[in-house]
Amino acid sequence: MHKIMDFRSDTVTRPSDEMREVIAHAEVGDDIYGDDPSSNALCEYAAEITGKEAAIFACSGTMGNLLAFVAAGHHGESILAGKRSHVWCSEVGGLSAIAGLCPYPLDDGSGIPAPEELAPANRADGDIHHAETTMLALENTHNYTGGIAVSPERFARTAREGRRLGFHVHLDGARIFNAAVKYGVEVSEYTKEVDSVQFCLSKGLGAPLGSMLCGTRDFIEKAKKWRKRLGGAQRQVGIAAAAGLYALKNNVARLAEDHENARLLAELLRKAGIAVEDTPDMTNMVFFPLGEGDVSDAEFEKRCFDKGMLVHMVSPRRARFVTHMDVDREDVERAAAIVAEVIRA
Ligand SMILES: Cc1ncc(COP(=O)(O)O)c(C=O)c1O
Repeated sequence: MHKIMDFRSDTVTRPSDEMREVIAHAEVGDDIYGDDPSSNALCEYAAEITGKEAAIFACSGTMGNLLAFVAAGHHGESILAGKRSHVWCSEVGGLSAIAGLCPYPLDDGSGIPAPEELAPANRADGDIHHAETTMLALENTHNYTGGIAVSPERFARTAREGRRLGFHVHLDGARIFNAAVKYGVEVSEYTKEVDSVQFCLSKGLGAPLGSMLCGTRDFIEKAKKWRKRLGGAQRQVGIAAAAGLYALKNNVARLAEDHENARLLAELLRKAGIAVEDTPDMTNMVFFPLGEGDVSDAEFEKRCFDKGMLVHMVSPRRARFVTHMDVDREDVERAAAIVAEVIRA
């Protein structure tokens, strides 16, 4: 009997036995009083590796991004963000609903807006009708364009232009370690170019929950206050923080295996005649369309499930497969064979 293979996302990983051991023995305290040693250790480490003054633990990536928007932006200002960015498309409009920012979408089809796009989009131009632009949000790796890892050079060009224009540049680095591993650089190669970064512990790194937001001490103090206001401050959070620290120290380099498995999956699907999207600088995601002669989206998900595989249609007629530490090479080979078998109507 095969295990159920879950390709819906890299968020589905279960803590390993070693991680559960760490969780079981985590030292904890009341984090709202600042005396949870595991949370404090995680924050120090996150700040150190991103080259920032301070960090806080947020319960999710969405909250980490939102804390950046409320801490750095003000109601009625504009934020530049990619048209296909997660902060704009998939965070329930929190940047407007809660942070009060007016999003101005840019073309991020290559994973990041081109630097030349920023100045013309800047609304801080003295026009009385305009909501002044004060923030720029970047995403790396870029989820909806196929998990593109934007290189440190391309990333720096856009981020530097954003800073030159006086914006607070925030990186939604939910999967920034995938980009760093892809290019063989330290994560600080990216984070040195931005004012704040959010990264997820609960995606490819394999922790059960949580994200880190890193930036200056002042910024993090503001974010802390907002986290409390939003009800996201927690007590013995060290249970989760210890898992996060373990993940950061043990599970970064192995992301290369996920990238190799995604590459293999794309190759096998193509060999089976499936029109896999051609993603430059891909990481741990594979996207492909369901065509006219193929089954319905619901039928595709059902047939895959009947064969022991969970899959996700990220939008109508567009399937996304994500590799992670709970699927291996053999699973990928089985997955490709199942897709080839079930996709035709
Ligand atoms: C690029 C990106 N940013 C932010 C998030 C939000 O993370 P969370 O699901 O922990 O809120 C996700 C989640 O998939 C994501 O892909």
